[in-house]
Amino acid sequence: MLSLASIPLLSLLFADVHLANAADSTSKAPQPYKINVDPAFIEETRRKVANFRPSVELSGPAWAEGPPLEDITNIAKYWKESYNWSAVESKINSEFSQYTISLPPPGGNYDLPLEDIYFIHQRSNRSDAIPLLMLHGWPSTSHEWAAVIPELVNPANSSQPAFHVIAPDFPGFGFSKPARKAGLGPAEYGTLFSGLMRQLGYDEYAVYSTDLGYVIAQSMVVEYETKIINHITDFYLVIPSETDTARYNANQTTFEETAYISSMNAFFADHAGYSAIHSTLPLSIAYALNDSPLGFLAWMYQLFFTVNDSLSQPTPSDIITQALLLYIPGVYGNIRSYVELYSLENFAAKRKSSVPTSVLQHGSLLAYAELANFNYPREWVERNANVTFFARHDRGGHFPAVTVPDSVVGDIRESFKVLGY
Ligand SMILES: *[C@@H]1O[C@H](CO)[C@@H](O)[C@H](O)[C@H]1NC(C)=O
Ligand SMILES: *[C@@H]1O[C@H](CO)[C@@H](O)[C@H](O)[C@H]1NC(C)=O
Ligand SMILES: *[C@@H]1O[C@H](CO)[C@@H](O)[C@H](O)[C@H]1NC(C)=O
Ligand SMILES: *[C@@H]1O[C@H](CO)[C@@H](O)[C@H](O)[C@H]1NC(C)=O
Ligand SMILES: *[C@@H]1O[C@H](CO)[C@@H](O)[C@H](O)[C@H]1NC(C)=O
Ligand SMILES: *[C@@H]1O[C@H](CO)[C@@H](O)[C@H](O)[C@H]1NC(C)=O
Repeated sequence: MLSLASIPLLSLLFADVHLANAADSTSKAPQPYKINVDPAFIEETRRKVANFRPSVELSGPAWAEGPPLEDITNIAKYWKESYNWSAVESKINSEFSQYTISLPPPGGNYDLPLEDIYFIHQRSNRSDAIPLLMLHGWPSTSHEWAAVIPELVNPANSSQPAFHVIAPDFPGFGFSKPARKAGLGPAEYGTLFSGLMRQLGYDEYAVYSTDLGYVIAQSMVVEYETKIINHITDFYLVIPSETDTARYNANQTTFEETAYISSMNAFFADHAGYSAIHSTLPLSIAYALNDSPLGFLAWMYQLFFTVNDSLSQPTPSDIITQALLLYIPGVYGNIRSYVELYSLENFAAKRKSSVPTSVLQHGSLLAYAELANFNYPREWVERNANVTFFARHDRGGHFPAVTVPDSVVGDIRESFKVLGY
């Protein structure tokens, strides 16, 4: 079925040859990679955590101004006494085929190559497997996909579609080197990742996106419309139009629309402070966060707690790993991605794309009930996208690939079946 779309694409392929050559002649082949963080750095980080200086706490509502002192103190104790980075590292190294690649982004508006971009490349042993590029957000890395990759790649049921998964860490996240020059916006990321797919020999591919990765995908579905066979996203952010807002203010929106706009307003009014800092003064705050691993964990954990569905208590080890994956490369390189990716105009595609779009929505039982209704109406998504699959679930929150991996795998499969795969 992959060849389905290839016939009308030939002219575009030829138009692209020059870019492909530019990429291929200057980028090195991917190098196999194993995570091997200097144990002295891990020990120094642990020592910083052990010396953390607690704040006083007001007797106000828990989580309203940040993570409660008791939670942070318990995590610090676990980090100091029991956390084992080496076990996490070994597990990732044994489960995933990892590589780095240096890619000069042809056509990007900056001239510095991005060196040592890390990615997981898990190939299926099925000859009919579909290439799937998976794009994470913040606070996250390619590790977000750890629970879904094995079943996507080699489904236990051989009647189900199989995938080759390509999951990069964005520059400055996880094990990818940070960019050394400003200007890495959605279009440049698109150039980078389409270049990666071309370098790996995947001419057509599907994209799964979330969060900031969704912003990149929104650019890619326009710029690489003929290459992308299915854009699956668990995060389709629709900004209400002026008419929607006027109807909302006049109490004329439907129940569904009202709940969505109210949730979105609550998020931007009360929970989005981190994004304002990241997109305006990331370097200022990076000096503090880079010097205090526990401070960075607390900064990140507030957002995680706000949007994660608490199907079960996260373990201290999970939270520490999540923080470390962003702390190890230095936090400035990842928090500053908001400067260039996070804006209202970037959330919407520049124009309606014909790329089949598969939307997964996950409600949640959150501490903040007012945020639990990020269920944008399907009709709103259809304004800007060719919606071919739409699934709404009660649970899962903002990290469904972590909290409800089987459901995400099932939806990905269904979204291809409706396209005839
Ligand atoms: C940490 O994990 C490594 C790798 O799995 C293991 O060899 C080591 O014994 C563990 N350390 C402790 C203190 O449990
Ligand atoms: C593919 O890999 C899976 C999991 O390792 C294995 O069970 C299966 O037998 C393999 N299939 C083929 C055709 O090699
Ligand atoms: C395997 O998948 C096929 C296709 O969806 C389905 O009909 C069949 O029931 C599945 N088999 C098992 C054992 O789940
Ligand atoms: C909309 O409803 C709210 C709450 O019921 C009310 O306070 C407000 O006056 C209404 N606005 C309009 C324009 O009817
Ligand atoms: C999010 O919730 C899931 C369980 O519902 C948990 O496994 C995961 O660790 C949580 N993540 C964080 C960082 O809170
Ligand atoms: C949407 O995608 C389907 C499946 O590829 C395609 O047949 C259809 O023409 C597309 N529709 C639009 C409006 O682009």
